Amino acid sequence: MDCKNLGFATRQIHAGKEANSAGALVTPIYQTSTFEFESVEQGGARFAGKEEGYIYSRLGNPSLTQVEKKLADLECAEACAATASGMGAISAALWSATKAGDEVVASDTLYGCTFALLSHGMPNFGVATKFVDFADLDAVKEALTEKTTVVYLETPCNPTLKVVDIAAVAKIAHDYNPAIKVIVDNTFCSPYISNPLTLGADVVVHSATKYINGHGDVIAGFVMSDAEFINRVKMFGIKDMTGCVMSPFNAFLIARGLKTLDIRVQRHSENAMKLAKFLESHPAVEKVYYPGLESFEGHEIAKKQMRMFGGMMSVELKASREAVGKALNEMELATIAVSLGDAETLIEHPATMTHSTYSPEELKASGISEGLVRISVGLEDADDIIADFKTALDKLI
Ligand SMILES: Cc1ncc(COP(=O)(O)O)c(C=O)c1O
Repeated sequence: MDCKNLGFATRQIHAGKEANSAGALVTPIYQTSTFEFESVEQGGARFAGKEEGYIYSRLGNPSLTQVEKKLADLECAEACAATASGMGAISAALWSATKAGDEVVASDTLYGCTFALLSHGMPNFGVATKFVDFADLDAVKEALTEKTTVVYLETPCNPTLKVVDIAAVAKIAHDYNPAIKVIVDNTFCSPYISNPLTLGADVVVHSATKYINGHGDVIAGFVMSDAEFINRVKMFGIKDMTGCVMSPFNAFLIARGLKTLDIRVQRHSENAMKLAKFLESHPAVEKVYYPGLESFEGHEIAKKQMRMFGGMMSVELKASREAVGKALNEMELATIAVSLGDAETLIEHPATMTHSTYSPEELKASGISEGLVRISVGLEDADDIIADFKTALDKLI
């Protein structure tokens, strides 16, 4: 497969297919922890890297190879490592790119657990992070030092949907020091909407729990980069540091979910645009955060680097937190739950749920207010989703 010559739909279905002895159309689930060697010599040769072949499922498994090749293709990457979760992907990538004494420059708005890893976890091991508003490119430039080895960002950011100009940030980082790894969490977009490596990033991470699997029944992640970095992620980040290996069954479910990624993301985006326009016109709404709206600050950058605007948005309501909570509790179709990218429309309160790892001051600095509600717009009929929100919001006016 070649990410330049074949269309996305063809690649999401066919890329990475592994031949199997039975000729099964769908790659089987290789539910095995270890692999037989024909001889002691063969086992030794595989450990020494002198012979290709599987050894032990923490180091590789054909069910995982299939989805790794697929994701590498869809993100236009040389190589990919599958992980047990999105946080597994993020931590394996960060451990592989840093050592004690290094500095990370990171966006000030990130998924709560990524923020916790960078602000509380990694400093325990001598890696410090400077958090900067990545909409301010001069601030990014000023934060870089000779100790910086990683520049880390999400776009659109979770949960304020702030859009970061990937090409501009990558240029600033690489002009300063070409060795800096620019790592982009592409979870909100999925590979269908954006491919950060083609914009100058060095590493892409995904929570495959979200759009990539798309059915709310898997926790999984991926790291994509050049072959040298992915080898480091597999042989150090995963093998020695985190052990965060994906299960063969989850790899099978992901390969299944991926076959419809483009169709799902198109529908998520269409529904989200309709809901965003409705919410923008509702008197109970203070502000809608959706990159597809012309009124949204990052709209022009989003148009430049996103194929469409995705299914994620946040909304600020005018009512008190208690009144908002009561109205959301009574919604019928939208489900109160964290996670995103599923068929079901999900709503959550970042300040007390996904971003409760931030202190009140940190929440304020990142623009995550008490009144902010995050919405993962599902695949239901748009009219039904809008009717559900209208019933809830009408109670607030
Ligand atoms: C943007 C983003 N990155 C990473 C993660 C972590 O993924 P996982 O829950 O699969 O570990 C999440 C989870 O919500 C997320 O929203």
